Parts: sequence; C-alpha cells; structure tokens
Amino acid sequence: MKRCIEVADIRECCQAWRRRGLSIALVPTMGFFHDGHLALMRRAKTLADRVVVSLFVNPIQFGPKEDLASYPRDLERDSALAAAAGVDALFIPTVSAMYGDGFETKVVLGALGQGLCGASRPGHFDGVATVVTKLFHIVAPDVAVFGEKDFQQLAIIRRMVADLDFNLRIVSQPIVRESDGLAMSSRNTYLTTEERQAATCLYRALVLAKTMAQRDERPTAAAIERTVRDSIEENAGFTVEYATVVDRASLAPAAKIDENCLLALAVRVGGRVRLIDNAPLFG
Ligand code: PAJ
Repeated sequence: MKRCIEVADIRECCQAWRRRGLSIALVPTMGFFHDGHLALMRRAKTLADRVVVSLFVNPIQFGPKEDLASYPRDLERDSALAAAAGVDALFIPTVSAMYGDGFETKVVLGALGQGLCGASRPGHFDGVATVVTKLFHIVAPDVAVFGEKDFQQLAIIRRMVADLDFNLRIVSQPIVRESDGLAMSSRNTYLTTEERQAATCLYRALVLAKTMAQRDERPTAAAIERTVRDSIEENAGFTVEYATVVDRASLAPAAKIDENCLLALAVRVGGRVRLIDNAPLFG
C-alpha cells in the first residue's frame, strides 16, 4: 500500500492508474478505523480496480468547542488495517497541505445542511462538503463510498454531486454495529465503561420505534419521538439532542408515518460525547 502525504503525490499516483485504464474508488475518513470504516473499504474493493482511502481530521468541520484536539488518532494501526483490507493508497495530508496560506473558499450548503446535526453544529456540513470536494478533485474517483451512519452527510454529498456535476457515483454502506447494537464510531472510545453499557439504549430506542411504527394503528411521528426520547433519557447522563422522524430523501420532518420514514437520533452523553444513529422505520 502506498502512503501519500502530498497532494501532488496522490494525484500523480491516481493519474498513473487512470492512464492504465484502471478505475478508482475513494473512501474519505478521519481515521481511527473500526469495522464500519473497514466495511466501506471492502465494499470499495468490489467497485473499482484501485482503492484510495483518505485519512484527514478535517479542522474546518469542527466547531470551536468541539473535539478536534482530542479526536482519536493512531496512524500506524490505521495503516496496517487499511493495508490488510486491500487498500492501494492511503492519502494522509497535513492541514497545511489541504488549507494553505490564504485559504478562504468554501462550499456553502442549502437547507439539507441546516436541520438535525446542522442545527447544533453550525458550519459543520459546509466544512464536510468543502473537504470532500477537494478530495474528489484531487483523487478524481469513479466512485466514492460513504456510510449510512452519517445519513445527513450522505444526503448532502449526493445532493452536492448532483448540483455541482461531479462525474462520479456515490455508493452507501449500511451501518456496522457492535454485537449489542451500538453503531460503531471512533467517538465510542470517549465513553466510560458505564456509559458504554448504557449506550445500547440508542439501538433499543430505534428498535422500539420500528415496533411502534409497524403496529396496525400507526402512531404519529410525535408519539414515536416522545417514546424514543423518554426511553433514552431514562439513562443517567443521556440527553437527546434530537429524535426526529424524517423523510429519508428530503430529511424534512415526516408528515405521516410511511415506508420513506427514518428515525434520526443525536444524543449527548455526560455532556461530553455526542452519539448519532438512525434506522428506517420499515424494512
Ligand atoms: P468518519 O467519521 O471517519 O467516517 C468515515 C466514513 O465512515 C463515513 O462515510 C461514515 O459514514 C462511515 N462510518 C462511520 N461509522 C460507520 C459505521 N458504524 N457503519 C458504517 N459506516 C460508518 O464522516 C467522516 O469521517 C468525515 O465527515 C468525512 C466524510 C471523512 C469528511 O471529513
């Protein structure tokens, strides 16, 4: 596996592959790999001849009071895991390589970036869209793979690719969970042992919401949201930031419960850790 730090190096590597007629899949990440990331990489291998993984903790998608400085990092372990997953090139740029002196141009999103996570993380999705745009330009992949765990991010990237005419395909990968249902996340390492045990309440709440939605007498979105919120907040230190039934394409709050609905959750734990999860209410 090649490791590239400079933009020019990864660009040259990808151009050489393209000259040989090889297709390229890109998996953008912020590292500290878990099985969710590895599932994306393995999926990417089935979609193209060469797989590039970017590993960059993107400062412009973190708010001033967020966890940029403490975000978990372990480059050597990540490198070994990516190589074992069959990745062909790992792109690990420095902050100054991505955002040189005078950097000031950003991708600015519309309504999709404002609600849900965008409401409590102003500017977050503009930062995501900007770095993903740069990665798409640098690597020029045929296909890029994103996880459904970050379903709002996925919807935004799909919208951006359509709106800005990027010439690539977006493929999504289902959420990978721990055996007790907790969605894998690099941020799970912030949880204490007790919080980690209690954190299964997110998954249990999603299952509860599904059971409610599929009853003969369909409940309202508000009833589902209230039940989910209460079941999570029974756990000491767990505060629901949002528990919202949305239309999975538009991300707008659902007017009625049907096959297009998804329950989206963001939960704060102990005031320090923010966990997100989601599940369709049907299927
Ligand atoms: P990061 O949180 O490292 O996630 C990288 C990719 O892995 C994203 O597409 C995310 O949805 C996916 N992922 C994370 N946990 C997952 C899980 N449990 N199951 C399936 N997929 C999972 O998302 C980012 O980084 C950044 O915002 C990025 C897109 C790289 C831009 O900086």
